Amino acid sequence: MKVVHTIAEIRTAVGTASREGKTVGLVPTMGYFHEGHLSLMRQAKADNDLVVVSLFVNPTQFGPNEDFRNYPRDLERDAAMAESVGVDLIFNPSPEEMYPEGYSTYVSVEKLTEGLCGASRPGHFKGVTTVCLKLFNIVQADRAYFGRKDYQQFKVIERMVKDLDLPLEIVGMPIVREVDGLAMSSRNSYLSAAERSSALVLSRSLAHAQELLAGGVVNGEELQRKVEAFIGKEPLVQVEYASVVDAESLEPLADISSKAVLALAVRIGKTRLLDNALLEIPAQ
Ligand code: PAF
Repeated sequence: MKVVHTIAEIRTAVGTASREGKTVGLVPTMGYFHEGHLSLMRQAKADNDLVVVSLFVNPTQFGPNEDFRNYPRDLERDAAMAESVGVDLIFNPSPEEMYPEGYSTYVSVEKLTEGLCGASRPGHFKGVTTVCLKLFNIVQADRAYFGRKDYQQFKVIERMVKDLDLPLEIVGMPIVREVDGLAMSSRNSYLSAAERSSALVLSRSLAHAQELLAGGVVNGEELQRKVEAFIGKEPLVQVEYASVVDAESLEPLADISSKAVLALAVRIGKTRLLDNALLEIPAQ
């Protein structure tokens, strides 16, 4: 496995493979890998001849008071983990390589980015779509892999690819959880032991929502209120949103009759965590 830091180097390496007729899979990441990242890399390996992982803590998707500086970074550890699952290339550019002096072009997806995380993180998705579009242009992959834990991000990227006719397939992968149910996230490393234990309320509230639905609570707002109350019993946890939305449009759903997602964002101390689940209406 090779670690490269410049756009010229990654273009040369991928270009050579493409000319040999090899298919290319890209896993965009911000590093500090866990099993969730490895599951994307394994799938990319199974589907493609060459696997590229981009490792870049993207400054344009962090707000001024967010954790850009403190975001966990460990290239040596990440490189060893990526190599263990057969990754061929890590692209680890500097911020200056991606956004040189004078950089001024951004891409934003409308509507899908307005609610959920978009409401409390203005500019976040513009940073995500811009860096992903740049990565897609640089690597020219056939497929790119994203985890569904960041469900809104996944739908926003899918939309951008469709709207801009980008010639690659976006593959959404299932959430990977710790044995006790906590969705894997690089930000879990910020949690104290007490916070880590409180964070289990996220996956438990998703299970609770499925039970409520099975018990006949099919009104989106009522389900939301009950889930918020359930999470609210955990003193260390502050709910940012617990929203029942249409799985495609991400619009709030009054009645859970079509494909719905329960999306959660909470703050535990200084850590912001996400989780979500598709809501399934039990067969009659
Ligand atoms: O999900 C992430 O890690 C980031 O938002 C991504 C997609 C790598 C863009 O920086």
